Amino acid sequence: MRGGAAKLFRDIYGYEYSVYAFAPGRVNLIGEHTDYNGGFVFPCALNLGIEGAARLRNDNILRFYSANFPDDGIIQVETASLRNGGWAAYPLAVISAFSAMGYNINSGADFVFRGNLPDGSGLSSSAALEVLTGLLLRELYGFSVTAQELAVFGQFAENRFIGVNCGVMDQFASAMGKKGSAVLLNSSTLSYSYAPLDSVNTALVLVNSGVKHSLASSAYNDRRRECESALADINGVKKTPSLCALGAEEFEMYKDAVKSPVCRKRAKHAVYENQRTIDAAQALKNGDLKGFGRLMNESHLSLQNDYEVSCAELDFLARSAWETTGVYGARMTGGGFGGCTVNLVKKEFAESFAVDIKQKYKEKFGTEASVYAVEPGCGAHLY
Ligand code: GLA
Repeated sequence: MRGGAAKLFRDIYGYEYSVYAFAPGRVNLIGEHTDYNGGFVFPCALNLGIEGAARLRNDNILRFYSANFPDDGIIQVETASLRNGGWAAYPLAVISAFSAMGYNINSGADFVFRGNLPDGSGLSSSAALEVLTGLLLRELYGFSVTAQELAVFGQFAENRFIGVNCGVMDQFASAMGKKGSAVLLNSSTLSYSYAPLDSVNTALVLVNSGVKHSLASSAYNDRRRECESALADINGVKKTPSLCALGAEEFEMYKDAVKSPVCRKRAKHAVYENQRTIDAAQALKNGDLKGFGRLMNESHLSLQNDYEVSCAELDFLARSAWETTGVYGARMTGGGFGGCTVNLVKKEFAESFAVDIKQKYKEKFGTEASVYAVEPGCGAHLY
């Protein structure tokens, strides 16, 4: 992929870039909707993502161009007014976040971006764009900011300036991913460890339902509110800082304090999903891929029935995978309401799985599912 954004910068602006970098998308193996409930997540960065090139200007103008939105042309704003309704809202939100954190962006710059994450696939193109922008800003303006801070600033940008109350998982995976490994992240402390995936014997296969997931217009913020309401009710009888701070036994003891049955289901998902994530990381460590796969399948069912963020297409893809030879486990991944399933498949069955699931999906829905075999990639870095 390297090479595209550098040339693009020259073609668009007619002069040389000074910084050139890449930030990956992510796939979450397990631990869904736990990151804003104080729990564990287990994502990996992908070898797909966004690259960007940039250079400072001598005035107060910021210009943005994306190869993925060529019809938008060059988007131009002044450093004093950081608003734009299109895709440039994301880099502008990051610039606003840096300013809010006390990092002064006092001169203009030119940016180009080029990504190869499939649009609307739920593989975190927005988090990749946020982390990438942060990295470019750090280099352009000489800010002293760690990779973890890039993740946190990206999340802050999304929460405050985009209006999606996401957790930190996507940005963290994009900033901190490690080649060949998944990251086990404790979202309440940001402590993390890497867990290698066996890419010799297993394949990580993503199946894109083609159903466009859209976080802002989806029920993501509602889910978050429902969890907060459940937490407030539980705190009436048992003081706890987050839902995931409760073990399953404690939850069973106090769950009736949650007045709304819907909020109770949401809380149940968060508590049990957190335990599944801890167990899955342990299973992987022990080389127990069957156990890992079983937990992935349970995670899907919980997201389908208790958290209610799946859809008919994702349910079909997960179920079909469960019935296919060589599949350890399969589940929807990311926020939900469309996007991809993640499938852990025995290497020798990866190709037949891809052919088989595409055919079944076409027969059922009349549309194509795309299949990508991915590798855990490294986090955001300069070229
Ligand atoms: C989106 C959010 C993440 C996380 C997932 C669900 O990807 O950006 O913070 O909450 O949904 O696990």
